Amino acid sequence: MGQPSWNDVDGYIVDRLVPPDDALVAALETNKAAGLPAIDVSPAQGKFLHLIARMVGARRVLEIGTLGGYSTIWFARALPSDGVVVTLEALPEHAAVARKNIERAGLTAKVDLRVGPALETLPLLAGEGGGVFDMIFIDADKRSNPEYLRWALKLARVGSVIIVDNVVRDGAVLDANSGDKDIQGIRRFFDDLAGEARLSATAIQTVGSKGWDGFAIALVDRG
Ligand code: SAH
Ligand code: DHB
Ligand code: MG
Repeated sequence: MGQPSWNDVDGYIVDRLVPPDDALVAALETNKAAGLPAIDVSPAQGKFLHLIARMVGARRVLEIGTLGGYSTIWFARALPSDGVVVTLEALPEHAAVARKNIERAGLTAKVDLRVGPALETLPLLAGEGGGVFDMIFIDADKRSNPEYLRWALKLARVGSVIIVDNVVRDGAVLDANSGDKDIQGIRRFFDDLAGEARLSATAIQTVGSKGWDGFAIALVDRG
């Protein structure tokens, strides 16, 4: 046997622990056919998010960045029958694919998909007073991560969990002089996290079928 790769090990993990699932497989196929970028969380990461949602007993999940709804389906399946995932997507063409995938998964009743730039839909959501979120997943345009963190805090309660995807980007996060607005957004987000007394946080690097990246995870410790 040659030197196994991260990807091989991810394949082994998914083969043992994340059995194939019709709705999720179909969602990825539909995304591909519609020309969506393959930037969904990996199967192992999707199940990880699902398990965290169950561990914290989440009833209301907020997701920023829907794409084709792959992670949305993992979250919706973690919720009780009266639970909801509010998921925000800027692009109508992505949202249309997500609607189809969520419908096929039989989860339409648990998903509230809002179309528009999140920095426009978040104030509307906050103004509705529909209640706080138990878990918030930030996975949209990385340059806006500092603003998304502020909204997450407004929409959370003590005990809520905030998870942010793609905070490592092949190590590019270390480049303080990066001209990439997304990298600068991730770095400002880390600074804000470090200085935010209401949160206790860490970040975990990940390798696997989506390459080298990572999640930040924060617990709201006080209001
Ligand atoms: N969470 C998804 C992947 C999201 S990819 C999954 O794991 O399956 C990031 C998504 O964020 C893309 O669909 C992109 O169109 C969307 N996006 C980018 N900028 C946005 C913005 N300003 N507001 C809302 N969504 C945005
Ligand atoms: C990109 C976005 C993501 O959410 C992701 O998981 C991977 C890549 C991107 O915009 O390139
Ligand atoms: Mg992502």
